[in-house]
Amino acid sequence: MSETHHSPLIERFFAPCPRGLEPIVAQECADCSASDLKEIPGGVLFAADWSTAKRINLESRSASRVLWQAASGPARTEQQVYELALALPWDTWFSVNNTIRVATTGLNATVRSLDFVSLRIKDAVCDRFREVMDARPSVNTQRPDIRIQCVLTDRDCTLYLDMSGEALFKRGWREAGEAPLRENLAAGILKLAGWTPGTPLFDPMCGSGTFLIEAAQMAAGVPPGALHGFAFEKFLHRDPSRPAVEKREAISTVFAGSDIDGDLVATARTNAWNAGLAEDAIRFDVKDARDVEPPCEQPGIVLMNPPYEERIGFSYTRDATEFFDAFAATMKRRFKGWTLYVLTTDMQLQSKMRLKPERRVVLFNGPLECRLYRFDLR
Ligand SMILES: C[S@@+](CC[C@H](N)C(=O)[O-])C[C@H]1O[C@@H](n2cnc3c(N)ncnc32)[C@H](O)[C@@H]1O
Repeated sequence: MSETHHSPLIERFFAPCPRGLEPIVAQECADCSASDLKEIPGGVLFAADWSTAKRINLESRSASRVLWQAASGPARTEQQVYELALALPWDTWFSVNNTIRVATTGLNATVRSLDFVSLRIKDAVCDRFREVMDARPSVNTQRPDIRIQCVLTDRDCTLYLDMSGEALFKRGWREAGEAPLRENLAAGILKLAGWTPGTPLFDPMCGSGTFLIEAAQMAAGVPPGALHGFAFEKFLHRDPSRPAVEKREAISTVFAGSDIDGDLVATARTNAWNAGLAEDAIRFDVKDARDVEPPCEQPGIVLMNPPYEERIGFSYTRDATEFFDAFAATMKRRFKGWTLYVLTTDMQLQSKMRLKPERRVVLFNGPLECRLYRFDLR
């Protein structure tokens, strides 16, 4: 099919995401009018034209990247993958002056080394450039301009060109916190919790403020990719322009957060400012989570992720059971009518809080298996 004004070329894409957020990403892609959506563990396959795929890069809050499917075919040995890659017109897709990096993911792949497959793909790309122009792109493993992703099974090889460049969760506003949550996971959790602009949101362990900043951007109509430089802006074979940011009406919402660590609260304030939010968009305080009070009369959602034992240890008290018991008492006493969501790796949390969860969702924060618990505070 050729790309004409009337029938834009429909191509295939893959949007990887944290495991557990596939339905959320599928909905975000559908909202941008992608079709033929298929959720697989760790991402969503979809069909779209180029401008739709660019819009998903700009608008998706939960995808980690958007990959354009450059080729797919039967290949299971290193040599077959090399030949598949050599036949592709890489030189028409990006400039020889761009740096590249190749990565390979195996799904029941029968090759001995996935790194060697990546090396052969890099060779094929460079050989193709040399054939055409007697020069080859260099490799940059840290910050490449162009990322090539291979997915190899025991039968097929699919080669993707990464449209996003830096991962989409690197929104461009963060100053590092102690154990910050990835922005796309935070945004996906907000959506899993059913939070929508207009509903008050409170995070009593806000750290660097990820939940609140993502939510406040949603309410303010700021797209997540507003500050992100995309790899597709460097491509040669399709329109590299950034999609226009549509003007959206801001929805007035109460946002509040607190943390016991004053330095982190200061970081959260800076992050909110960097994210393009008004100075008073989110109210931040320094407070122990056991002493918090509702930020408004209207009940809303309390959303938090307490410290992961694996990551920073229980800094609030030596005894987590004692802490959560006291925290739950504060919630039950002062937050009647609110809904509490807690993201944790601690599968015993509900017994520590002596609360019965209404719902639990399995999620992965990188390799860490987590639960998102919902407690209705009556
Ligand atoms: C896993 S981090 C939360 C990360 C946060 N969601 C973010 O995006 O940066 C847990 C936070 O709990 C805070 N914390 C630990 N003990 C606390 C307490 N007793 N009261 C309030 N916050 C506490 C830590 O300072 C830390 O920022």
